[in-house]
Amino acid sequence: MPQQMATILMTNQKIKQIKDFLHKKLKPNRFEHVLSVRETAINFATKYKADLQKVELAALLHDCAKWMNTNILIELSKKHNIKLDQIERENPALLHAKVGAEYAKDHFGITDSDVLNAIRNHTTGTQKMSLVDKILYVADFCEPKRNYQVANDVYKTAESDLDSAMLEVAQHKIIRQIKENRLIHPNTIDVYNTGLRLSHKKKKEIEIGK
Ligand SMILES: [Fe+2]
Ligand SMILES: [Fe+2]
Repeated sequence: MPQQMATILMTNQKIKQIKDFLHKKLKPNRFEHVLSVRETAINFATKYKADLQKVELAALLHDCAKWMNTNILIELSKKHNIKLDQIERENPALLHAKVGAEYAKDHFGITDSDVLNAIRNHTTGTQKMSLVDKILYVADFCEPKRNYQVANDVYKTAESDLDSAMLEVAQHKIIRQIKENRLIHPNTIDVYNTGLRLSHKKKKEIEIGK
């Protein structure tokens, strides 16, 4: 069997295994969300020429630890030597991202660092985001099953400008945390600051070009 065919078959088997697991472990609406993130992320990956297999795996696995309660999340964080920052200590639900990456490694044999980092960074983002990170961060926020107008707006932005969409996601997350009197993770502020600097730079370049 040619190597490429063997790889595709192996990936298909893995994807089926992951989907079956998620179907069993996640609540139905969470499972639907994951499938919708997968579809959205693949659309963006096609548009922005990202690696489709990596994006699909990251999207399918991004919430693979979402079924865990706080005790399990903290226990697995200890097992994997995940250092909790102050905000994660106060809001352990955030750990589903970092724990999810370790779980994807242990249970599905994922070793690709682009896939694992995208899972790790999908909730708070991080200062330097790869293309796969950006696609997952944006798709998780704006997949069409998200029932709010801003998700729709971000989706539209992402169709033409992924960096601006990322800035919008960070802005919306910050606004929502403030409205709900919740702590803001410093990584979200980093995504916002980085995105805003880039946006200012692009605007200046357009002005100079005029
Ligand atoms: Fe998540
Ligand atoms: Fe999600």
